[in-house]
Amino acid sequence: MGAHGGVDLRVELGGITLRNPVLVCSGTFGNGREMAAWMDVKELGGVMTKAVTLAPCAGNPPPRVWETPSGMLNAIGLENKGLERFLAEDLPWLNAMQVPVWVNVAGFTREEYVEVSREVSRSGLASALELNISCPNVKKGGLHFSAEKGEAARLVSEVKEVSEIPVYVKLSPNTGDIAGFAGAMVRAGADGISLINTIPAMAVDVETARPRLGNVTGGLSGPAVHPVAVRMVWEVAQAVDVPIIGMGGIWSWMDAAEMLMVGADAVAVGTLNFRDPAAALGVVEGLASFMLRKGYRRVGDMVDLVHRGRDMP
Ligand SMILES: Cc1cc2nc3c(=O)[nH]c(=O)nc-3n(C[C@H](O)[C@H](O)[C@H](O)COP(=O)(O)O)c2cc1C
Repeated sequence: MGAHGGVDLRVELGGITLRNPVLVCSGTFGNGREMAAWMDVKELGGVMTKAVTLAPCAGNPPPRVWETPSGMLNAIGLENKGLERFLAEDLPWLNAMQVPVWVNVAGFTREEYVEVSREVSRSGLASALELNISCPNVKKGGLHFSAEKGEAARLVSEVKEVSEIPVYVKLSPNTGDIAGFAGAMVRAGADGISLINTIPAMAVDVETARPRLGNVTGGLSGPAVHPVAVRMVWEVAQAVDVPIIGMGGIWSWMDAAEMLMVGADAVAVGTLNFRDPAAALGVVEGLASFMLRKGYRRVGDMVDLVHRGRDMP
C-alpha cells in the first residue's frame, strides 16, 4: 500500500512475499549486478538468475543472437561461471538487495541438477529454485528433459529431496500438451511453474545460405511469442493449483495484465530488458495505474479473471 495510490501490489507465492508481481526472466538480466547501474534492482518483484551449472560453461559458438521481426533468436547455451563462483560472487550480492531470487538451475545430467540445487538451497541465499529443463541430457543421448515427462518428473522428485526452498519448474513450449506436462511436474512435487521458455526456431542468411546462428537453431523470444505464452499460461492455470509465473514477450503493462488475467500469479519481463534495463519497473507503474483506474485493490483481483468470466451467466 502507499506508494501506488492505495493499490496493494504485493503478491504471495507460496510463502514468498514479492513487493510487486513483476520479476525479470532468467538469462535476460545477468545476475542483477550487471543491470544495477541503470535501475534499482530492489524495486523489482524478484530476480530469476541466469542458468547455473556445476562447472563453468562456455556456451555455444557465435553468432549467438539474431534480431527478428518482433523478437529475437538466441543460442547462448548454458554460458556461466559455474556454481562455485556464482555462490561466492553473485548470489550474496543479490541477497543483499533484499529482492526474492529464483536461481535458474541447469545441468547436463540429473545428478548435476541435484547437486546444484542442493548447494543453492544450502546457501540460504535464494528464495526458490527454477529448474530449466530445456537442456540436453547428455547421458541420455541428447534427449531434453522438456520433451520427456517421465524423465522430468524424476528430476523434480530428486531435486525436491535435497531442497529446503520451493522448486519451480520452467516449462518449454516445445510440447503438444503443456497442461499435462505441468500437471506431471506438480504431481512429482513442483511447488510452482514458470512458463514459457523460448520457442525453437531458426533463421538463414540467404546471401551465404548459412544459418544466422553458430548453433544453427536457437530460441525465439519477444513479442512474437507472447500470444503463444498467454494461451499456454491459460491452459496450465486450469490444470494446476500451484503458483504460476508467466513470461514470454511481455512488452508493456498490458501484456502483464493479460498474463495475470489468464491465471499467472506473477509475471517476468525478459527480452525487453535488453532494450531498456528499467523496463520491468515501468511495467510495475503501468499495472499500478491500471489497477487504480479499474478499482482492483490487490493483484489477486486481476488473476484468473478470464477463467472466472467464462463461468459467468
Ligand atoms: C538471451 C537469452 C538468454 C536466456 N537464458 C535463459 C536461461 O539461462 N535459463 C532459462 O530458463 N531461460 C533463459 N531464457 C529464456 C527467458 O528466461 C524467457 O523464458 C524467454 O525469453 C521468454 O520471455 P521473453 O519473450 O520476455 O524474453 C533466455 C532468453 C534470452 C533471450
